[in-house]
Amino acid sequence: MTQEDVKNQIRAAFDHRVAVRVYNEQVIPKEDMEFILDTAWLSPSSVGLEGWRFIVVDKKHIPELSAAIKDLAWGAQPQLDTASHFVLLVAEKNARFDGESMRQSLVRRGITDAEGLESRIKLYQAFQERDMQMADNPRALWDWTAKQTYIAMGNMMTAASMIGIDSCPIEGFNHEVLNQRLAELGWIDLEKEAVATMVSFGYRRKDPKHPRARKPRQEVITWLD
Ligand SMILES: Cc1cc2nc3c(=O)[nH]c(=O)nc-3n(C[C@H](O)[C@H](O)[C@H](O)COP(=O)(O)O)c2cc1C
Repeated sequence: MTQEDVKNQIRAAFDHRVAVRVYNEQVIPKEDMEFILDTAWLSPSSVGLEGWRFIVVDKKHIPELSAAIKDLAWGAQPQLDTASHFVLLVAEKNARFDGESMRQSLVRRGITDAEGLESRIKLYQAFQERDMQMADNPRALWDWTAKQTYIAMGNMMTAASMIGIDSCPIEGFNHEVLNQRLAELGWIDLEKEAVATMVSFGYRRKDPKHPRARKPRQEVITWLD
């Protein structure tokens, strides 16, 4: 395959992807979901923290999810009724420069000696305190990990589209109550984490009625002269 072929394939996947709310009966094969999930797992994260995990809700478990969240997830109504799978993107809370998860991320990347760890942690301290002003603000720390889950979500949606699977990103829900309910189900530990966003997967029931709307390309892409 030439580079042009690859570009065409990627471009076709972007052209085909739309937010699909209503799916047909078809269930996504497990190996295809595993392929999609690989792209979340392998997504980049700031300082390599990987302050996330991905809960896969298959067709068997969607009724349980639906019973717990349907009344507050206004953005997920037809998806909860028809999707083959949901993935809940869970972001770590309180990922401070001096916390265990930060240290573990360094160890994973082969930085294990005391001096190396100390100098990296100092750098992350400056990053979190001086540059991002978030070290002592739990909400800002959570927003930091939460926004990184959207990278994984984007990668999953593109990968899905490349193999003919549709998706819909979903953040239309009451965050606080949804997280409480999922904690009651035992799916998440509210002390440590919370759902940032969700994505549904399946096969579209119909093509969209309207052409996809986008601002003119030149309005959003600026090349400096
Ligand atoms: C971060 C994010 C959150 C979204 N949340 C919802 C949602 O809760 N429910 C929904 O039906 N669509 C949701 N969407 C889909 C958008 O409405 C859709 O992507 C947008 O209108 C552009 O259309 P397209 O994806 O078909 O190109 C969301 C999209 C993004 C990127």
